[in-house]
Amino acid sequence: MQPIEYVFIPFSFLWYLFLILWHALIGLIFAFIPYALLPKKDVSKDIVLVTGGGSGFGRLFALEFTKLGSTVVIWDINLTGAENVVKECQELGGKAFAYKVDVSNSENVYKTADDVRKDVGDVTILINNAGVVAGRYLLDAPDHLIHKTLDINIKSHFWTVKAFARSILDNNHGHFVTIASMAVTMEAHK
Ligand SMILES: NC(=O)c1ccc[n+]([C@@H]2O[C@H](COP(=O)([O-])OP(=O)(O)OC[C@H]3O[C@@H](n4cnc5c(N)ncnc54)[C@H](O)[C@@H]3O)[C@@H](O)[C@H]2O)c1
Repeated sequence: MQPIEYVFIPFSFLWYLFLILWHALIGLIFAFIPYALLPKKDVSKDIVLVTGGGSGFGRLFALEFTKLGSTVVIWDINLTGAENVVKECQELGGKAFAYKVDVSNSENVYKTADDVRKDVGDVTILINNAGVVAGRYLLDAPDHLIHKTLDINIKSHFWTVKAFARSILDNNHGHFVTIASMAVTMEAHK
């Protein structure tokens, strides 16, 4: 280890500790302010990418961000669904783009991310929403369904964050949003 690292490690530890306490304090203060009075973030200049945006929650996120003025990029393995949502966004007067992507395939994610950068620009808000539900007890679930669930619901988040984090970090502007289910907090009965 370099001598400078002996200084850097405790400094960065203290810095992150300060950030955690600072954000906890801000969160505590905001918790007591009625929601309607809270300042709203302007996302009208943001490019928002929604995975699994061709239906369900993803579609609703796409429509809500369109209403807020964001440019919306919809990724879905079902291109027809994504294109239909693009039409709905356009009917609301928004700018939206559809891409067919299998988010469980890292190469497919990186390649399509390059296409988005060329066609639309740098994504600033990434909403990792695509997900599947095996809907079986562990002992009844075939292995391929368990692989598929982990590939889409978990591993894909690493590929999409890797694909878009560089510009978000360089510009110090953006968000990564993870959609998950409270069902993970429940115990398995079988
Ligand atoms: N529906 C619920 O009650 C509920 C509750 C809590 C959390 N969630 C979570 O919300 C998210 C969305 O759920 P939903 O109910 O809207 O589901 P949905 O099935 O309506 O939508 C999921 C979308 O993801 C797409 N998709 C599936 N596999 C893909 C892949 N490999 N690559 C790209 N796109 C793919 C599908 O085509 C579909 O359009 C999921 O992560 C889910 O776990 C859902």
